[in-house]
Amino acid sequence: MGYYAYHLALREEDLQGVRLALIPGAPERCTKIAQAFGEWQELAFHREFRTVLAYNAVGKILVVSSGIGGSSLSILLEELARMGVQIFLRVGTCGAIQEHIEVGDLIVSEGAVRLDGVSEHYAPLAYPACSDYTLLWLLKKACNEMGCRYHLGITCSSATFYPGQERYDTFTGYVPRALRGSFAEWQKLGVLNYEMEIATLFTVARVFGLKAGALCGVLVNREREEAVPVERVEEVETILARVSAHAATLILKWLEEGNGVS
Ligand code: URA
Repeated sequence: MGYYAYHLALREEDLQGVRLALIPGAPERCTKIAQAFGEWQELAFHREFRTVLAYNAVGKILVVSSGIGGSSLSILLEELARMGVQIFLRVGTCGAIQEHIEVGDLIVSEGAVRLDGVSEHYAPLAYPACSDYTLLWLLKKACNEMGCRYHLGITCSSATFYPGQERYDTFTGYVPRALRGSFAEWQKLGVLNYEMEIATLFTVARVFGLKAGALCGVLVNREREEAVPVERVEEVETILARVSAHAATLILKWLEEGNGVS
């Protein structure tokens, strides 16, 4: 019997040799993405990690939830990599920090600012967190083919949703001095959005010699408001599921042509 992944509650053979995993944060988003891709079956659901195997005429993928933040994502990457997964696509949500980006737009991350607090356990901070080039290109193609509004650029991955993203609508309303003014600074430096996992994903995948890309749906424009408009969440999740499922099909076709992780 092959390796048993303790946190995912899966055995290597359960994965049937699948090489591509789509990674939303929320377990309930797994089935939405899997449905947009094709037929699906749940393999396991342990803690925040829900694992769904999805298949269509082109091939099969995993959709696995990571929970929120880099810590749990790093566990997922360790265990999926040990079971033979080589390509990771984060499918998440984010807050935009540039004026011209609207709720419902998509962001394809070229790289990430490493405020995730986890990636330093894998490589010093001077090491860059960047997307795999082919996945970046295929994500862009998927966005174009699905006719959606999207932006390419740098993401800031924060270890926290509130102070790290300079939110003041909190219990204390206090943001420590080191983080005050950080929103305006990232904005000035052309960063597009805040989220919590991409820097961990890009750093760890690169250190492992594996491939990672990231696509996020914009839930809120922080220039206009701090709180997420809950009435828009369903709509954003639907766009994200459709485009990420299409991107997964493009990646499988690319693999079928004999490409892969060298
Ligand atoms: N996720 C984040 O980390 N920040 C947001 O503003 C929205 C989603």
